[in-house]
Amino acid sequence: MTEYSKKTLKGVQIEKISSAHAQVLEVLHRTSFESPWAAPEFAQLLNHPGTGGLIALNAQTTPLGFILVRSAGDEVEILTLCVDPHHRGQKIATRILNALIADCNTPGRPKIFLEVGQSNQPALGLYQACGFDRVGERPGYYRKRGNAAEAAIIMAYS
Ligand SMILES: CC(C)(COP(=O)(O)OP(=O)(O)OC[C@H]1O[C@@H](n2cnc3c(N)ncnc32)[C@H](O)[C@@H]1OP(=O)(O)O)[C@@H](O)C(=O)NCCC(=O)NCCS
Repeated sequence: MTEYSKKTLKGVQIEKISSAHAQVLEVLHRTSFESPWAAPEFAQLLNHPGTGGLIALNAQTTPLGFILVRSAGDEVEILTLCVDPHHRGQKIATRILNALIADCNTPGRPKIFLEVGQSNQPALGLYQACGFDRVGERPGYYRKRGNAAEAAIIMAYS
């Protein structure tokens, strides 16, 4: 995995995702999670009204990372967010999250929330840096193979 480097990648474009991106999302998700989601799951989710997301591409249109969210009423839930390990530490997730926050800056601005494992320091640091506050905790929420259960931290941007 690439070391955390603190550079800002130039020329990153942020685009809306649709079910046509399902295969690309599967590939990116596999780089970042132990139990990745498959393309048909992404396609099914994205065919639901209220589910959508944003993808970051570099100047050569290589996919770098994405966010998937579900909107209901005045709340937007972040379902997943990841950046390819080779491109981390270059503010790509920050760009994606800021684009989501800007998209949500509409009349009756919805609250954005998410759950993150309490040991996931990169994600906790990212959300805090982007203006999210810690609003709750679900003890023992994540049960990973071979590891003790881990609490989920609930964070919100409002
Ligand atoms: C969390 C994740 C999306 C961050 O993506 P990224 O593009 O590398 O993040 P950024 O470069 O935008 O980092 C922004 C801030 O997040 C924090 N951060 C990111 N990576 C970090 C790390 N490895 N260690 C500590 N802080 C980190 C820092 O506060 C950073 O700000 P700084 O650069 O000024 O210090 C990425 O590490 C990832 O895909 N992880 C695996 C999947 C995951 O855990 N997703 C979140 C599930 S809720």
